Amino acid sequence: MSNNPVTSSPATGRPVTGRPVTGSPATGSPAAGSPAAGSPVTDSPVHSSPVKRRARKYTDVVVPDLSGKRAVVTGASDGLGLGLAERLARAGAELVLPVRNPAKGEAAVGRLRAAVPDAVVSTRPLDLASLESVATLADGLLDEGRRIDLLVANAGVMAPPARNTTADGFELQLGTNHLGHMALVGRLLPLLRSDARTPDSRASDSRTSDSRRSGARVTTMSSAAARFGRLDWTDLNSERDYSPVRAYNLSKLAQLMFALELDRRSRAHGWGIVSNVAHPGTTYTSLYSAGPGLGSTETPRMDAVMRRFLALGIFVQPVEQGLLPALQAATDPAAGGGTFYGPDGVGHFTGSSAPQRVYRAATDEAAAARLWDVSEDMTGVRFPGSALA
Ligand SMILES: NC(=O)c1ccc[n+]([C@@H]2O[C@H](COP(=O)([O-])OP(=O)(O)OC[C@H]3O[C@@H](n4cnc5c(N)ncnc54)[C@H](OP(=O)(O)O)[C@@H]3O)[C@@H](O)[C@H]2O)c1
Repeated sequence: MSNNPVTSSPATGRPVTGRPVTGSPATGSPAAGSPAAGSPVTDSPVHSSPVKRRARKYTDVVVPDLSGKRAVVTGASDGLGLGLAERLARAGAELVLPVRNPAKGEAAVGRLRAAVPDAVVSTRPLDLASLESVATLADGLLDEGRRIDLLVANAGVMAPPARNTTADGFELQLGTNHLGHMALVGRLLPLLRSDARTPDSRASDSRTSDSRRSGARVTTMSSAAARFGRLDWTDLNSERDYSPVRAYNLSKLAQLMFALELDRRSRAHGWGIVSNVAHPGTTYTSLYSAGPGLGSTETPRMDAVMRRFLALGIFVQPVEQGLLPALQAATDPAAGGGTFYGPDGVGHFTGSSAPQRVYRAATDEAAAARLWDVSEDMTGVRFPGSALA
């Protein structure tokens, strides 16, 4: 991890000097615009929040120059994904944003272009709750023949009150958060590996005569909820017994285990992919209304509670702060494979980004290998050399 906090220039998004960032009580969007020292902080057009909140301090993440890099971010039509997309665009990355709601996707692109006028950004359709949709997206990107430098598996759904299923019959949270993303990574593997032989990689390799090109960085957004996850091998899909929170915890543990196992398999098979994980503590987003409100027209109580805590400046942080662990995992050259980032505050609810200890349940490598095999069977998407060498 970098010990040299650096913020970005508002003009270029490139690193300037390190300093802690203070949130504006009026707008509370300090890092998004990455203001130069002494300049007033203005709200980001990308993820402004109507909630008035107390000032808070945190250390921003160094984002290296990402010019020429292609980044795919799922769930960037809202919340943390949209905030991450903005930070990556500011650093010069080309963004591909797979979204399930085209109107929301276009609105997100508009907000990104307003915030970063020279952003190179496009959307693709993706519903992670449909393996067919995952395959269609992957086929399209494979046809484009452009290698991917950065994949942030961020989209997610949390705690619908009643059991819902994906198009393929999986419990919605397991199917969307874990299985959909695993199938996506598996199908995109040819574009993520260091030996990707795409037209663009051949062109750039011949320009640089670099035969040691690194593979992609794959960053998975898990959750502190993974700490409480339990893999019930007899009921992964919560068919026998559904609890909204238990199914979410399970899906987030599965994501954490998948990300760590992906890194181990990448090393074992020489794929060159660096896979790591992050969690955003508790960040005020639509997560607290979308899932809990599924099937209802009323805003869930949880949303009001979150807004209250955000306004008080305790337990809950804004998007521009909550995205920092994933931003660091995805872009810090020192954030290696198998690392896990989250907020450094008490209880890891809020704070600056810092390495975290992997939760005990996710350290069981035999269980991770079993989950990998079971997930391959469920999705029908097989990675090469299925078992660890
Ligand atoms: N916020 C927190 O406190 C917190 C804590 C721990 C972990 N996380 C994790 O952080 C990630 C981002 O969540 P967030 O807080 O930013 O929530 P959010 O604002 O609700 O954003 C979730 C994103 O995922 C997308 N999505 C949901 N289901 C999808 C599907 N089937 N196919 C494709 N996209 C789908 C949503 O698309 P739409 O715009 O179409 O709804 C949205 O863009 C999630 O994985 C979440 O579990 C968040």
